[in-house]
Amino acid sequence: MGELRGTHVPVLLERCLELLAPALDRDRRTIHVDATLGLAGHAEAVLAAHPETILIGLDRDTEALAHARARLARYADRIHLVHAVYDELPDVLDRLGYPHVDSLLFDLGVSSLQLDAPDRGFAYAQDAPLDMRMDQTRGVTAEEIVNSYSHGELARVLKVYGEERFAGRIASAIVRERERSRITSSAFLAELVRDSIPAAARRTGGHPAKRSFQALRIEVNRELAALETALPAALDALAVGGRLVVLSYHSLEDRITKQAFAGRARSTGPVDLPVELPGTGPTLRLLSRGAELPSEAEVAANPRAASVRLRAAERVDPERAGGPKATGRADRERPRRRVKALHIPGATAPGRSDVDREKGPSGPGDADGTAVEGEGS
Ligand SMILES: C[S@@+](CC[C@H](N)C(=O)[O-])C[C@H]1O[C@@H](n2cnc3c(N)ncnc32)[C@H](O)[C@@H]1O
Repeated sequence: MGELRGTHVPVLLERCLELLAPALDRDRRTIHVDATLGLAGHAEAVLAAHPETILIGLDRDTEALAHARARLARYADRIHLVHAVYDELPDVLDRLGYPHVDSLLFDLGVSSLQLDAPDRGFAYAQDAPLDMRMDQTRGVTAEEIVNSYSHGELARVLKVYGEERFAGRIASAIVRERERSRITSSAFLAELVRDSIPAAARRTGGHPAKRSFQALRIEVNRELAALETALPAALDALAVGGRLVVLSYHSLEDRITKQAFAGRARSTGPVDLPVELPGTGPTLRLLSRGAELPSEAEVAANPRAASVRLRAAERVDPERAGGPKATGRADRERPRRRVKALHIPGATAPGRSDVDREKGPSGPGDADGTAVEGEGS
């Protein structure tokens, strides 16, 4: 196992620490869950900043866990590192005997370890077996999907998860090619995708295979289904005063996060009453208004941050009565730049690196094309 420290800069680290601090700085031992431990950049910073905090770190990638364990060796007496998909969080907490936690962080998507590994098949720029599993111990590979899905299923995956305009043409090329011989290499697939896209369209939006590779990765790892289950469970696990921070890298992830927060941030009391009744108040207070973007300085220092969208919320007590009714709008702690433009699928943000482009198209708007700005979610 090589030394990876220093090759990965945690995204929006200072902002994450700032948002998590009020939940972790208490006069008692506190529990932080890093649901996507990766190379433990965020986790290490949390442990360093909060000497009384216990970390529960989850990752579905055994290689990432091994690196994280080595990196966090000096904190061995206050960490639990668990090989799990984050939708297994309730079982993990149950097994460890922690019914409630004080904070959670989800830093979604793939890690630099996964993207840069020459043999894991995530990168269209390197030839490798078509694997793309974050957890190499289980699940179907991209090769199995590419060679077994029907034309319709392939086109749906490419269109929905990759926002690929030419999904039907690419699916046809895959079906045609695999009749000749099984498709097994990432370079071959990248070339096939490139050749399926009209020449004029190839000139914009980065590498022509970017969107298709992202779509396959999401399908292989069932990423969105896991997130849809995990976020409500994470919110349920938060103690009152506890905080959740989510870093998304494309519009579908961000939309799931927005929806998971929205219902809990509103009153369930009678609409015509100006004050809350006991038990009808929101269970969440939004800490970010809409989706927060990285600053230009952050993107310059860390190109992987270019497509990030941050949302954060705090668990509150719904029994608090008598206060003014919540609107579901964010009680922002610090103003930051907000999403300004509609997402144009395939458009490339200035300054993004190739690696970052691989991380996803990351439209600032919702997947349905609606702008996030002004949503006051
Ligand atoms: C962007 S990296 C996290 C980087 C980390 N914050 C750091 O500072 O090093 C995302 C990590 O989450 C893991 N991951 C993605 N989806 C997951 C899931 N559903 N359950 C558990 N881990 C997941 C990946 O294997 C990867 O290691």
